[in-house]
Amino acid sequence: AARNAGRGCPLLLLDPCRPQLIQELQGLGCQTEQRGNDETVEEALCRAAPEVVVVRSSLIQEPQLAACKKAPHLVMRAGAGVDNLAVPALAERGVVVCNAAGANAVAVAELTMAHLLNLDRRLSDQVESLRRGQWQRLHFAKGPRGLYGRTLAVLGLGSVGREVARLAKAFGMNVRAWSRSLTSEEAEEMGVAFCGSMEEAAFCADAITVHLPLTAATRGVVGLDVLMLAPGALFVNMSRGGVVDEEALLEAVKVYGIRAGLDVFANEPGASDTSFHDEAIMHPDIYGSHHTGARTEQAAEAVEQAVLEVVSAYLEGRPIPGR
Ligand code: MLT
Repeated sequence: AARNAGRGCPLLLLDPCRPQLIQELQGLGCQTEQRGNDETVEEALCRAAPEVVVVRSSLIQEPQLAACKKAPHLVMRAGAGVDNLAVPALAERGVVVCNAAGANAVAVAELTMAHLLNLDRRLSDQVESLRRGQWQRLHFAKGPRGLYGRTLAVLGLGSVGREVARLAKAFGMNVRAWSRSLTSEEAEEMGVAFCGSMEEAAFCADAITVHLPLTAATRGVVGLDVLMLAPGALFVNMSRGGVVDEEALLEAVKVYGIRAGLDVFANEPGASDTSFHDEAIMHPDIYGSHHTGARTEQAAEAVEQAVLEVVSAYLEGRPIPGR
């Protein structure tokens, strides 16, 4: 799908982005178009007839593709997960799909640690209590166990899981891990204990953190057999809501007394929605954040850099990085 002309490549940005990225893409010779506020993805694709599409959270599924008169050559996902894209359908039309794997891993890992610390110390509850004019020093002194010396099970050792393992070890946690293609040699190299299954990793863990991509094979795979932990155990999901069986999670919280920190939900609102209701976030032992794992300035810069590298390689007909 590479082209050799370096100029005038029509490029559509489907989601809002920082002005610097647009300027840099134009500097590479792209004719950039942005999706309008009231425009659907289908309408934008039809209007711009792009050769390259840069997408963050917008959906490019069968209906959006069907609306394109001509399929783009390249779709670049400005992030790691590609579950918003119909990858097989795009491949069938000869579209090259890329992502910015690893570019936001540090940011996501940092929020993972923030969730673990918050679950242990109930920091967000402490802030709320003070804002209500309460002083509850004794109340909040009761629960925390500390992270040091505790066992953390990392499910999924891609770039985010690896960064979480590194940070958790710096906190003095014992890290064990399961990942689809992890070998015991790789685990040893990373200083984590190798586990042959998710259940083995989760068994007797003090905390679990999930970093799996959402695919047909991983939908709902984190179920009760993984979540049946001891009371007070901590569970964090920073990957995609669909990976976890939400009903099983609620049961594990209500019946087994685990506490959960979730950055992602199975039915997340769209980027422009301003309200969200989900049974899970109403429970006092479930602490939600707004799918902001990757939303730091550093991560934005790294993802933009990855977008620019992919687009410039495409324009110059060079091999596309990461493929
Ligand atoms: C990702 O897939 O990289 C994350 O969910 C972050 C994002 O897209 O904002």
